[in-house]
Amino acid sequence: MTAPTLEIHLTDDDLTAALRSDARAGLTASPKTLPPKWFYDARGSELFEAITQLPEYYPTRTERALLEQVVGEIARIARAEVLVELGSGSAAKTRLLLDALSAAGPLKTYVPQDVSESALRGAAAEVAAEFPGLAVHGVVSDFTDTLHNLPRGGRRMIAFLGGTIGNFAPAERAEFLTAIAQVLEPGEQLLLGAGLVIDPSVLVPAYDDAAGVTAEFNRNVLYVLNSRLRADFDPEAFRHTAIWDAANEWIEMRLEATRDMTVAVADLDLTVEFAAGEQMRTEISAKFRVDGLTAELDRAGFTTEHAWTDPLQRFALVLAERR
Ligand code: AVJ
Repeated sequence: MTAPTLEIHLTDDDLTAALRSDARAGLTASPKTLPPKWFYDARGSELFEAITQLPEYYPTRTERALLEQVVGEIARIARAEVLVELGSGSAAKTRLLLDALSAAGPLKTYVPQDVSESALRGAAAEVAAEFPGLAVHGVVSDFTDTLHNLPRGGRRMIAFLGGTIGNFAPAERAEFLTAIAQVLEPGEQLLLGAGLVIDPSVLVPAYDDAAGVTAEFNRNVLYVLNSRLRADFDPEAFRHTAIWDAANEWIEMRLEATRDMTVAVADLDLTVEFAAGEQMRTEISAKFRVDGLTAELDRAGFTTEHAWTDPLQRFALVLAERR
């Protein structure tokens, strides 16, 4: 086996600088917001893994079952030599793709990308051990940065799974899909996993589980601010909420202050007031309709080759080709 190589475009200092700027902007905005990117330190990545095991959280297992079913078909249409995976996390579903792509033909290289260096190191090492003939080149970076540093040479497929596309607001999403199209050559592909609009009685509990794991994941962003920016949030004084925004067709997670609080963020020289009941948005997780997604891909410069959905129509995998 060849040891995986790791490329770090996001040093600890870069991360802190980006967090400082996001935290200052978000905590001084009205209403206050924090981007979901900051959930994922080592503890947050572990909590997300725990979420994927919850009975209420259907997306991961639904996408996995769907992928198991259609991965052979995907591999036949794909013929990729390089698989780039955006936000690879633990790369749990990637093995299915890697298996099928290597069986179908010329796969040479796997490029997992993630903001979490700990998650990436673990996943890259495991994949390298399991696929001895495969070159594994991990990239610690954020999405935008990854696109500018994409490996060249070899027919590429970018996989963006898990429904993380839903974390973008619509305008950012259009920009992001266009950016992906622009770094790909005509004929290269995008494999996109997206949660579909379903009944809120199934959707909401997936983001507000009975065991409280999602609540702890949500509050983790405050622990991240405490440790990285020397803030003094009392995370347990914030209540987790998840609501379905029917007009925008997204789930919105918020943290609600359970009492009046004054929070100091030492590294920002910032004091932030929370009123009892005040809510701060920490994530949107947009859900899609297959037609809408295909139209968005089309506007970004992609032609959809195939869209697969699970039997309950909860999740879609879309394979699209750069025009
Ligand atoms: C990792 C962004 C796909 O939106 O479902 C899980 C994150 N947030 N539970 C999602 C998440 C709350 C997840 N993504």
